[in-house]
Amino acid sequence: MHILHVVGARPNFMKAAPLLTALRQRGCRQTLVHTGQHYDPAMSDVFFEQLELPAPDVNLDVRSGSHAQQTAEIMARFEPVVLAHRPDVVLVYGDVNSTMAAALVCAKLQIALGHVEAGLRSFDRTMPEEVNRVVTDQLADFLFTPSPDADANLQREGMAADKIFLVGNVMIDSLVRLLPLAQRSLPPGLPPRYALVTLHRPGNVDEEESLREIADTLLTIHQDLPVVFPAHPRTQERLARFGVDLGQLYFMDPLPYLQFLALQARATVVITDSGGMQEETTYLGVPCLTLREHTERPITVTEGTNILVGRDFAKLRREVWKITAGLGKQGSAPALWDGAAAQRIADVLLQSAAQISPLYAKTVAV
Ligand code: UD1
Repeated sequence: MHILHVVGARPNFMKAAPLLTALRQRGCRQTLVHTGQHYDPAMSDVFFEQLELPAPDVNLDVRSGSHAQQTAEIMARFEPVVLAHRPDVVLVYGDVNSTMAAALVCAKLQIALGHVEAGLRSFDRTMPEEVNRVVTDQLADFLFTPSPDADANLQREGMAADKIFLVGNVMIDSLVRLLPLAQRSLPPGLPPRYALVTLHRPGNVDEEESLREIADTLLTIHQDLPVVFPAHPRTQERLARFGVDLGQLYFMDPLPYLQFLALQARATVVITDSGGMQEETTYLGVPCLTLREHTERPITVTEGTNILVGRDFAKLRREVWKITAGLGKQGSAPALWDGAAAQRIADVLLQSAAQISPLYAKTVAV
């Protein structure tokens, strides 16, 4: 069986890595396509190295643009690649623009499509990722879900039960494999206790007022608990544009996967608007305060260590204080977040080979 993987942005890389390994172990032919949505070495190359991903067979090199431009460019450049490689199945990951763009191309060419991390919903259509999730799930033939809430969302949206496979969390597969190595990779010169911060959602960083409010709160927290802030390029650009100075904090460029994982595992608290970090902190048992009103990962709140603080900065400061006083929320890792999700996905794909091939036979008479 020939499987083609599409990755494009930082959070895709740790999800695809365990799948590439599991399918290689089963003797599948594989093609790796990088859309080039993330292109800075710190956002892409270093992740390939540390996750031991093979170099992409194809790089579409799309880079940045408006959502429409980026999506359209990926589609236009991906279609000839699919036609040339003729995979049996295309796997897409998560909820970034690359995920949805590739899904649309496959649907039009009638190529079997698997969505890894299907079914998550924030029910907030102002988030570009929510649109990407809803569209991708509608088009996928295999919906690989990380948690039962995702299955329920898909069923409610009318997806056939035989397309839905509760397999667990592939991002945790990478974490489980690389945590021992990460624990030897802690960046030097950090204080013993710290809050680890990441921010990049348009809703938090694109408007000056909002970014200033968050920055002021971080500077206040820093007086009691040092703040370590590896900042996404988008956030760095906005801070510079609005003239917001966070030089007093431990402010730095985005970190490689292993160093960042080490920082998360040792953090007193994580403050973030990332989706993946809500899951990683839940697995690690580290308290997480999320600067969003909704989460598409509710299991991190109901079972894990996550608390949604939204834009309530008084609540944020209160929760940080509780955590430093040892009164933080306790949680546990959800079922099937065990390091073996990719093995389960690979098994499903191979068991389904017979159904996939006739699907493929109808293909590319285009
Ligand atoms: C994307 C994903 C988001 C994910 C995040 C992780 C979408 C809609 N969003 O957001 O879900 O959580 O990645 O990082 O797909 N830039 C660079 N260098 C890069 C990449 C981006 O400088 O390598 C800058 C550019 O100015 C670009 C901006 O960051 O315009 C935003 O990049 P983009 O890929 O559009 O979205 P992210 O904010 O990274």
